[in-house]
Amino acid sequence: MTTVKFLNKQFNGPLVLASGVLGVNASSWGNVNKHGAGGITIKSCSLQPREGHPNPTMTGTKHYFINAVGLSNPGVEEVVKEVEVFRKTNKTPLIGSVFAGCVEDFGKCAKALAESAVDFIEIDISCPNVKHEFGEPYAFSPDATKKITAEVRKQVKKPIIIKLSADAPDIVAVGKAAEKAGADALCAINTMSGMAINAEMAAPVLSNVQGGVSGPAIKPMALKAVWDLYENVKIPIIGTGGVTYGVDAIEMLMAGASLVGVGSAVYFRKIDAFKLINEEIEDFMKKNNYKTIKSMIGAAHK
Ligand SMILES: Cc1cc2nc3c(=O)[nH]c(=O)nc-3n(C[C@H](O)[C@H](O)[C@H](O)COP(=O)(O)O)c2cc1C
Repeated sequence: MTTVKFLNKQFNGPLVLASGVLGVNASSWGNVNKHGAGGITIKSCSLQPREGHPNPTMTGTKHYFINAVGLSNPGVEEVVKEVEVFRKTNKTPLIGSVFAGCVEDFGKCAKALAESAVDFIEIDISCPNVKHEFGEPYAFSPDATKKITAEVRKQVKKPIIIKLSADAPDIVAVGKAAEKAGADALCAINTMSGMAINAEMAAPVLSNVQGGVSGPAIKPMALKAVWDLYENVKIPIIGTGGVTYGVDAIEMLMAGASLVGVGSAVYFRKIDAFKLINEEIEDFMKKNNYKTIKSMIGAAHK
């Protein structure tokens, strides 16, 4: 697969593992990389460890998954140790992801993770599954996004990526606020709010009642988010949401993504998802005479 340059780092292909899928440890990141991911986004971590929600936390059909894992993670200190383990044998770009409940903690957690050997810091302001603790996601508000981005910018020299939500009333306003406050890139989109009901039980399926929808069902909303952002911001975008086959990744690039996030596809196509999607992208490029990934970025905007 041809290499792709993103914020001055070389990625082996356009695919990156999306945050939250396939664990928080070095061996899992290495395994995903071995199977074709050009970069790895780490599961979002917080200053303190979090247990997350009780089971059941995940359900799905062939069209989507709904999860309410609740940001379970071992805390930033443990994640930093895993990054050290990973870096002993692997130079693949690592995107560290952080989550917090207030502006100040976003800054502290991002600073702590940025001191490790991660290459980028992604700021998860868009998780839909922790409303009862923290209220609506910060990514719904341009003002809150501006404050968090500015605080992280103050604390961190490494490139920062702000992860956005297509549930936001105006994702473009949020993206612009992040750009203005010093973000180097955007990631769109996180899961979208939804729920599942078990008719026999006359009850919600998830213990948290509601969760975040991912997988093929959210691809149209992800494409629209990336399209709209591409037309309105200058910083690059990681397009994420529903990418399962090579053609989905091509569509995401053509909407304006510079890299493509892959999460739920590893449930649908197993660990080979990255390798298969890469092969499908290469086939498409050969058939349609595209020589580089770069030449496809934003190609659908005339
Ligand atoms: C089980 C699960 C856990 C997730 N955890 C996180 C997380 O910790 N931080 C984050 O920014 N996104 C998280 N996400 C969202 C994904 O990174 C991604 O944005 C979303 O699933 C859409 O991509 P997909 O359709 O390829 O899965 C999670 C998604 C799933 C399915």
